[in-house]
Amino acid sequence: MSFTRKRVLVTGGAGFLGSHLCERLLRDGHDVLCVDNYFTGRRDNIAQLLQNPHFEVMRHDVTFPLYVEVDEIYNLACPASPVHYQFDPVQTTKTSVIGAINMLGLAKRVGAKVLQASTSEVYGDPTVHPQSEDYRGSVSTIGLRACYDEGKRCAETLFFDYFRQNKVGIKVMRIFNTYGPRMHPNDGRVVSNFIVQALHGEDITLYGTGSQTRAFCFVDDLIDGMIRLMATSPEITGPVNVGNPHEIPVRELAERVIRLTRSASRIVHRPLPQDDPMQRCPDITLARSLLGWEPRVNLDEGLALTVDYFRGCL
Ligand SMILES: NC(=O)c1ccc[n+]([C@@H]2O[C@H](COP(=O)([O-])OP(=O)(O)OC[C@H]3O[C@@H](n4cnc5c(N)ncnc54)[C@H](O)[C@@H]3O)[C@@H](O)[C@H]2O)c1
Repeated sequence: MSFTRKRVLVTGGAGFLGSHLCERLLRDGHDVLCVDNYFTGRRDNIAQLLQNPHFEVMRHDVTFPLYVEVDEIYNLACPASPVHYQFDPVQTTKTSVIGAINMLGLAKRVGAKVLQASTSEVYGDPTVHPQSEDYRGSVSTIGLRACYDEGKRCAETLFFDYFRQNKVGIKVMRIFNTYGPRMHPNDGRVVSNFIVQALHGEDITLYGTGSQTRAFCFVDDLIDGMIRLMATSPEITGPVNVGNPHEIPVRELAERVIRLTRSASRIVHRPLPQDDPMQRCPDITLARSLLGWEPRVNLDEGLALTVDYFRGCL
Protein backbone atom coordinates (compact mmCIF):
# COMPACT_ATOMS: atom_id res chain seq x y z
CA MET A 1 0.00 0.00 0.00
CA SER A 2 1.30 3.47 -0.82
CA PHE A 3 1.54 6.05 1.97
CA THR A 4 0.78 9.75 1.49
CA ARG A 5 2.22 12.20 3.98
CA LYS A 6 -0.56 14.62 4.83
CA ARG A 7 -0.47 18.19 6.13
CA VAL A 8 -2.71 18.09 9.18
CA LEU A 9 -3.96 21.01 11.25
CA VAL A 10 -4.85 20.34 14.89
CA THR A 11 -6.61 23.22 16.64
CA GLY A 12 -6.32 23.04 20.42
CA GLY A 13 -3.18 20.98 19.76
CA ALA A 14 -1.45 22.00 23.01
CA GLY A 15 -4.36 20.73 25.11
CA PHE A 16 -4.89 17.34 26.71
CA LEU A 17 -6.40 15.46 23.74
CA GLY A 18 -4.76 17.68 21.10
CA SER A 19 -1.22 16.94 22.27
CA HIS A 20 -1.84 13.17 22.14
CA LEU A 21 -3.36 13.57 18.68
CA CYS A 22 -0.35 15.58 17.40
CA GLU A 23 1.95 12.88 18.75
CA ARG A 24 0.00 10.09 17.06
CA LEU A 25 -0.19 11.93 13.70
CA LEU A 26 3.58 12.52 13.73
CA ARG A 27 4.13 8.87 14.59
CA ASP A 28 1.94 7.95 11.62
CA GLY A 29 4.28 10.01 9.38
CA HIS A 30 2.34 13.23 8.79
CA ASP A 31 3.22 16.95 8.94
CA VAL A 32 1.41 18.53 11.87
CA LEU A 33 0.50 22.17 12.39
CA CYS A 34 -0.60 22.75 15.98
CA VAL A 35 -2.68 25.88 16.56
CA ASP A 36 -3.51 27.01 20.09
CA ASN A 37 -4.11 30.19 22.08
CA TYR A 38 -2.87 28.49 25.30
CA PHE A 39 -6.05 29.28 27.21
CA THR A 40 -6.03 25.82 28.81
CA GLY A 41 -3.29 24.24 26.69
CA ARG A 42 0.32 24.16 27.85
CA ARG A 43 3.64 24.25 26.06
CA ASP A 44 4.81 21.41 28.32
CA ASN A 45 2.25 19.15 26.63
CA ILE A 46 4.03 19.50 23.28
CA ALA A 47 7.60 20.18 24.47
CA GLN A 48 8.71 16.68 23.41
CA LEU A 49 7.52 17.36 19.83
CA LEU A 50 9.25 20.69 19.22
CA GLN A 51 12.46 19.17 17.84
CA ASN A 52 10.54 17.19 15.23
CA PRO A 53 11.02 18.86 11.80
CA HIS A 54 7.50 17.75 10.80
CA PHE A 55 5.90 19.61 13.72
CA GLU A 56 5.02 23.30 13.69
CA VAL A 57 3.27 25.40 16.34
CA MET A 58 1.29 28.60 15.84
CA ARG A 59 -0.21 30.77 18.59
CA HIS A 60 -3.59 31.69 17.20
CA ASP A 61 -7.16 32.12 18.41
CA VAL A 62 -9.63 30.20 16.23
CA THR A 63 -12.22 32.95 16.58
CA PHE A 64 -10.07 34.75 13.97
CA PRO A 65 -9.73 33.45 10.39
CA LEU A 66 -6.73 31.30 9.56
CA TYR A 67 -5.12 30.99 6.14
CA VAL A 68 -2.99 27.87 5.78
CA GLU A 69 -2.69 25.03 3.27
CA VAL A 70 -3.66 21.70 4.80
CA ASP A 71 -5.27 18.41 3.81
CA GLU A 72 -7.06 17.61 7.07
CA ILE A 73 -8.29 19.63 10.05
CA TYR A 74 -9.04 18.29 13.52
CA ASN A 75 -10.98 21.01 15.33
CA LEU A 76 -10.38 20.50 19.05
CA ALA A 77 -9.99 24.11 20.20
CA CYS A 78 -12.36 24.75 23.10
CA PRO A 79 -11.95 24.60 26.86
CA ALA A 80 -13.51 21.30 27.93
CA SER A 81 -13.85 21.39 31.70
CA PRO A 82 -16.66 23.32 33.44
CA VAL A 83 -14.26 25.48 35.50
CA HIS A 84 -12.48 26.59 32.37
CA TYR A 85 -15.44 27.00 30.01
CA GLN A 86 -17.46 28.89 32.63
CA PHE A 87 -14.57 31.29 33.31
CA ASP A 88 -15.44 33.32 30.19
CA PRO A 89 -18.68 31.82 28.86
CA VAL A 90 -19.04 34.31 26.00
CA GLN A 91 -15.58 33.39 24.72
CA THR A 92 -16.51 29.70 25.07
CA THR A 93 -19.52 30.10 22.78
CA LYS A 94 -17.45 32.21 20.37
CA THR A 95 -14.73 29.55 20.27
CA SER A 96 -17.21 26.81 19.41
CA VAL A 97 -19.34 28.77 16.95
CA ILE A 98 -16.97 31.25 15.28
CA GLY A 99 -14.14 28.71 15.56
CA ALA A 100 -16.30 26.18 13.66
CA ILE A 101 -17.18 28.77 11.00
CA ASN A 102 -13.50 29.65 10.54
CA MET A 103 -12.37 26.02 10.30
CA LEU A 104 -15.20 25.10 7.95
CA GLY A 105 -14.41 28.15 5.81
CA LEU A 106 -10.77 27.08 5.68
CA ALA A 107 -11.77 23.50 4.79
CA LYS A 108 -14.01 24.81 2.02
CA ARG A 109 -11.26 27.06 0.59
CA VAL A 110 -8.52 24.44 0.51
CA GLY A 111 -10.69 21.34 0.00
CA ALA A 112 -9.66 19.79 3.32
CA LYS A 113 -11.57 17.25 5.38
CA VAL A 114 -12.54 18.55 8.81
CA LEU A 115 -13.33 16.67 12.02
CA GLN A 116 -15.22 18.31 14.85
CA ALA A 117 -14.48 17.30 18.46
CA SER A 118 -18.05 17.41 19.65
CA THR A 119 -19.18 16.10 22.98
CA SER A 120 -21.58 13.93 24.92
CA GLU A 121 -22.70 17.24 26.49
CA VAL A 122 -24.89 17.74 23.40
CA TYR A 123 -27.16 15.15 25.10
CA GLY A 124 -27.37 17.35 28.24
CA ASP A 125 -28.93 15.58 31.23
CA PRO A 126 -30.22 12.63 29.20
CA THR A 127 -33.64 11.07 29.57
CA VAL A 128 -32.61 7.95 27.65
CA HIS A 129 -29.83 5.63 28.59
CA PRO A 130 -27.32 4.79 27.20
CA GLN A 131 -27.25 7.61 24.64
CA SER A 132 -27.18 6.70 20.97
CA GLU A 133 -26.55 9.24 18.22
CA ASP A 134 -30.23 9.66 17.33
CA TYR A 135 -31.13 10.88 20.84
CA ARG A 136 -31.69 14.63 20.53
CA GLY A 137 -30.70 15.62 24.03
CA SER A 138 -32.08 17.47 27.01
CA VAL A 139 -30.10 20.68 27.31
CA SER A 140 -30.85 23.95 29.11
CA THR A 141 -30.34 26.94 26.84
CA ILE A 142 -29.87 29.30 29.78
CA GLY A 143 -27.94 27.32 32.40
CA LEU A 144 -24.29 27.68 33.40
CA ARG A 145 -23.26 24.86 31.09
CA ALA A 146 -25.16 26.19 28.07
CA CYS A 147 -22.19 28.20 26.74
CA TYR A 148 -20.42 24.90 26.16
CA ASP A 149 -23.34 22.56 25.40
CA GLU A 150 -25.20 24.91 23.07
CA GLY A 151 -21.95 26.15 21.50
CA LYS A 152 -21.09 22.55 20.60
CA ARG A 153 -24.63 21.87 19.35
CA CYS A 154 -24.49 24.92 17.09
CA ALA A 155 -21.06 23.84 15.84
CA GLU A 156 -22.57 20.47 14.81
CA THR A 157 -25.33 22.34 12.96
CA LEU A 158 -22.73 24.39 11.11
CA PHE A 159 -20.80 21.27 10.16
CA PHE A 160 -23.87 19.67 8.61
CA ASP A 161 -24.89 22.89 6.82
CA TYR A 162 -21.41 23.29 5.29
CA PHE A 163 -21.64 19.62 4.26
CA ARG A 164 -25.03 20.04 2.56
CA GLN A 165 -24.52 23.56 1.21
CA ASN A 166 -20.82 23.60 0.34
CA LYS A 167 -19.96 19.88 0.03
CA VAL A 168 -17.27 20.17 2.71
CA GLY A 169 -16.01 16.75 3.86
CA ILE A 170 -17.02 16.56 7.52
CA LYS A 171 -16.70 14.12 10.42
CA VAL A 172 -18.47 14.79 13.72
CA MET A 173 -17.30 12.84 16.74
CA ARG A 174 -19.17 12.96 20.06
CA ILE A 175 -16.52 12.44 22.67
CA PHE A 176 -17.46 11.01 26.07
CA ASN A 177 -15.48 11.49 29.28
CA THR A 178 -11.82 10.87 28.50
CA TYR A 179 -8.91 10.78 30.91
CA GLY A 180 -5.17 10.18 30.90
CA PRO A 181 -1.75 11.79 31.19
CA ARG A 182 -1.63 15.57 30.47
CA MET A 183 -5.05 16.33 31.86
CA HIS A 184 -4.91 19.74 33.48
CA PRO A 185 -4.35 19.23 37.25
CA ASN A 186 -6.73 22.09 38.13
CA ASP A 187 -9.48 21.49 35.62
CA GLY A 188 -11.98 20.27 38.21
CA ARG A 189 -12.79 17.13 36.24
CA VAL A 190 -13.51 14.12 38.37
CA VAL A 191 -10.53 11.92 37.45
CA SER A 192 -7.87 14.63 37.83
CA ASN A 193 -9.58 16.00 40.97
CA PHE A 194 -9.59 12.67 42.73
CA ILE A 195 -6.02 11.77 41.75
CA VAL A 196 -4.59 15.15 42.77
CA GLN A 197 -6.50 15.10 46.08
CA ALA A 198 -5.40 11.52 46.78
CA LEU A 199 -1.75 12.24 46.00
CA HIS A 200 -1.83 15.28 48.30
CA GLY A 201 -3.55 13.24 51.02
CA GLU A 202 -6.46 15.73 51.00
CA ASP A 203 -10.14 14.91 51.41
CA ILE A 204 -11.69 13.56 48.20
CA THR A 205 -14.74 15.67 47.35
CA LEU A 206 -17.67 13.70 46.05
CA TYR A 207 -20.56 15.74 44.65
CA GLY A 208 -23.96 14.47 45.76
CA THR A 209 -24.07 10.89 47.02
CA GLY A 210 -21.61 9.64 44.42
CA SER A 211 -24.28 7.34 42.97
CA GLN A 212 -24.25 9.34 39.70
CA THR A 213 -22.52 7.25 37.06
CA ARG A 214 -19.85 8.02 34.51
CA ALA A 215 -17.95 5.96 31.94
CA PHE A 216 -14.28 6.79 31.37
CA CYS A 217 -12.30 6.31 28.18
CA PHE A 218 -8.49 6.23 28.17
CA VAL A 219 -6.93 8.85 25.91
CA ASP A 220 -5.05 6.43 23.60
CA ASP A 221 -8.31 4.63 22.79
CA LEU A 222 -10.08 7.92 22.09
CA ILE A 223 -7.33 9.15 19.74
CA ASP A 224 -7.42 5.86 17.88
CA GLY A 225 -11.17 6.34 17.33
CA MET A 226 -10.56 9.88 16.08
CA ILE A 227 -7.97 8.75 13.51
CA ARG A 228 -10.26 5.96 12.34
CA LEU A 229 -13.20 8.35 11.91
CA MET A 230 -11.11 10.79 9.85
CA ALA A 231 -10.06 7.89 7.59
CA THR A 232 -13.63 6.84 6.74
CA SER A 233 -15.09 7.36 3.26
CA PRO A 234 -16.72 10.72 2.39
CA GLU A 235 -20.34 9.62 2.90
CA ILE A 236 -19.60 8.91 6.57
CA THR A 237 -20.13 12.16 8.40
CA GLY A 238 -21.18 11.03 11.87
CA PRO A 239 -22.13 12.04 14.44
CA VAL A 240 -20.41 9.05 16.01
CA ASN A 241 -20.17 8.46 19.76
CA VAL A 242 -16.71 7.53 20.95
CA GLY A 243 -16.23 6.63 24.58
CA ASN A 244 -16.00 3.72 26.95
CA PRO A 245 -19.39 2.18 27.75
CA HIS A 246 -18.18 0.61 31.02
CA GLU A 247 -20.18 2.66 33.52
CA ILE A 248 -19.35 3.05 37.20
CA PRO A 249 -20.70 5.17 40.07
CA VAL A 250 -18.44 8.15 40.80
CA ARG A 251 -18.06 6.85 44.38
CA GLU A 252 -16.42 3.69 43.00
CA LEU A 253 -13.98 5.81 41.00
CA ALA A 254 -12.97 7.60 44.21
CA GLU A 255 -12.42 4.26 45.96
CA ARG A 256 -10.32 2.93 43.07
CA VAL A 257 -8.15 6.05 43.07
CA ILE A 258 -7.60 5.77 46.84
CA ARG A 259 -6.61 2.12 46.41
CA LEU A 260 -4.25 2.78 43.47
CA THR A 261 -2.50 5.72 45.14
CA ARG A 262 -2.46 4.01 48.57
CA SER A 263 -3.69 7.32 49.91
CA ALA A 264 -4.97 8.05 53.41
CA SER A 265 -7.56 10.51 51.97
CA ARG A 266 -11.16 10.37 53.21
CA ILE A 267 -14.24 10.84 51.02
CA VAL A 268 -16.34 13.96 51.84
CA HIS A 269 -19.63 15.01 50.23
CA ARG A 270 -20.55 18.35 48.58
CA PRO A 271 -23.79 19.50 46.85
CA LEU A 272 -24.21 18.57 43.17
CA PRO A 273 -23.40 21.44 40.75
CA GLN A 274 -26.20 22.89 38.57
CA ASP A 275 -27.28 20.75 35.59
CA ASP A 276 -24.80 18.00 36.46
CA PRO A 277 -26.09 14.88 34.65
CA MET A 278 -26.96 11.85 36.80
CA GLN A 279 -26.00 9.32 34.17
CA ARG A 280 -23.74 9.43 31.16
CA CYS A 281 -22.86 6.40 29.10
CA PRO A 282 -22.26 6.03 25.37
CA ASP A 283 -23.96 3.58 23.08
CA ILE A 284 -21.01 2.76 20.80
CA THR A 285 -22.77 0.37 18.42
CA LEU A 286 -22.15 2.76 15.52
CA ALA A 287 -18.43 3.24 16.32
CA ARG A 288 -18.06 -0.53 16.52
CA SER A 289 -19.66 -1.12 13.11
CA LEU A 290 -18.38 1.95 11.20
CA LEU A 291 -14.89 2.22 12.64
CA GLY A 292 -14.24 -1.30 13.91
CA TRP A 293 -13.39 0.52 17.11
CA GLU A 294 -13.53 -0.71 20.68
CA PRO A 295 -11.87 0.68 23.81
CA ARG A 296 -8.96 -1.55 24.83
CA VAL A 297 -7.48 -0.03 27.98
CA ASN A 298 -9.29 -1.02 31.17
CA LEU A 299 -9.92 1.51 33.92
CA ASP A 300 -7.32 0.28 36.43
CA GLU A 301 -4.63 0.17 33.73
CA GLY A 302 -5.49 3.69 32.49
CA LEU A 303 -5.76 5.10 36.01
CA ALA A 304 -2.35 3.68 36.92
CA LEU A 305 -0.76 5.48 33.92
CA THR A 306 -2.58 8.69 34.85
CA VAL A 307 -1.52 8.46 38.49
CA ASP A 308 2.12 8.01 37.36
CA TYR A 309 1.79 11.16 35.25
CA PHE A 310 0.37 13.24 38.10
CA ARG A 311 2.98 11.89 40.52
CA GLY A 312 5.62 13.20 38.09
CA CYS A 313 3.97 16.64 37.86
CA LEU A 314 3.19 17.27 41.50
N1 LIG B 1 -11.54 15.46 27.42
C1 LIG B 1 -12.80 15.09 27.32
O1 LIG B 1 -13.26 14.25 28.10
C2 LIG B 1 -13.69 15.66 26.24
C3 LIG B 1 -15.02 15.22 26.20
C4 LIG B 1 -15.84 15.74 25.21
C5 LIG B 1 -15.35 16.63 24.28
N2 LIG B 1 -14.08 17.03 24.34
C6 LIG B 1 -13.63 18.02 23.35
O2 LIG B 1 -12.34 17.73 22.89
C7 LIG B 1 -11.61 18.94 22.68
C8 LIG B 1 -10.30 18.90 23.46
O3 LIG B 1 -10.59 18.75 24.84
P1 LIG B 1 -9.45 18.62 25.94
O4 LIG B 1 -9.96 17.72 27.00
O5 LIG B 1 -8.16 18.31 25.28
O6 LIG B 1 -9.44 20.08 26.54
P2 LIG B 1 -8.23 21.12 26.74
O7 LIG B 1 -8.80 22.28 27.46
O8 LIG B 1 -7.06 20.42 27.34
O9 LIG B 1 -7.88 21.49 25.25
C9 LIG B 1 -8.49 22.52 24.53
C10 LIG B 1 -7.41 23.29 23.82
O10 LIG B 1 -8.03 24.33 23.03
C11 LIG B 1 -7.29 25.53 23.22
N3 LIG B 1 -8.19 26.65 22.95
C12 LIG B 1 -9.26 27.05 23.67
N4 LIG B 1 -9.85 28.10 23.09
C13 LIG B 1 -9.14 28.38 21.96
C14 LIG B 1 -9.25 29.36 20.93
N5 LIG B 1 -10.22 30.27 20.94
N6 LIG B 1 -8.32 29.34 19.94
C15 LIG B 1 -7.33 28.43 19.91
N7 LIG B 1 -7.18 27.48 20.86
C16 LIG B 1 -8.08 27.45 21.87
C17 LIG B 1 -6.82 25.47 24.65
O11 LIG B 1 -5.76 26.33 24.94
C18 LIG B 1 -6.45 24.00 24.77
O12 LIG B 1 -5.13 23.74 24.36
C19 LIG B 1 -12.52 20.08 23.10
O13 LIG B 1 -13.13 20.62 21.95
C20 LIG B 1 -13.55 19.41 23.97
O14 LIG B 1 -14.79 20.07 23.93
C21 LIG B 1 -13.23 16.58 25.32
